[in-house]
Amino acid sequence: MAEIIMDALFEEAQKAAYGAYAPYSRFRVGAALLAEDGSVYTGCNVENRSFGLSLCAERSALVQGVSKGKRTFIAIAIASLDSVSPVGPCGACRQVLSEFMGPEAPVRFGGSGEERVDTTIGFLYPYDSLHDLAGPV
Ligand code: THU
Repeated sequence: MAEIIMDALFEEAQKAAYGAYAPYSRFRVGAALLAEDGSVYTGCNVENRSFGLSLCAERSALVQGVSKGKRTFIAIAIASLDSVSPVGPCGACRQVLSEFMGPEAPVRFGGSGEERVDTTIGFLYPYDSLHDLAGPV
């Protein structure tokens, strides 16, 4: 994936993080997902007073795209406003992203500082399996 695309995607993720509803953790996260047709879907974390119901930015972006009929995403950027250093996606998000992203898909994450981590879905979620469980969709 071209550097300029990942840069633009990360900027979208940063903007999306300002929409976060995070009164409990005070930790705002934004995500921007690139679909295979070039469209971009963003999301932020949406917390709940029943803490376990909180939705991460990554899954929030994903449901936006899937709701619009997209089924394959080719890159994601994740921005955490309230951490200087990069914060990677949680385990649940790694699995959910792997449903709609191939192992080679690039992932960039960063905090408010300069450091960025560039990795892939396959690195974050190795030994993925059970994709053949899904029938026609
Ligand atoms: N969070 C995300 O939205 N994405 C991540 O990659 C890490 C964590 C959210 C969940 C919760 O609302 C807050 O950040 C603190 O964990």
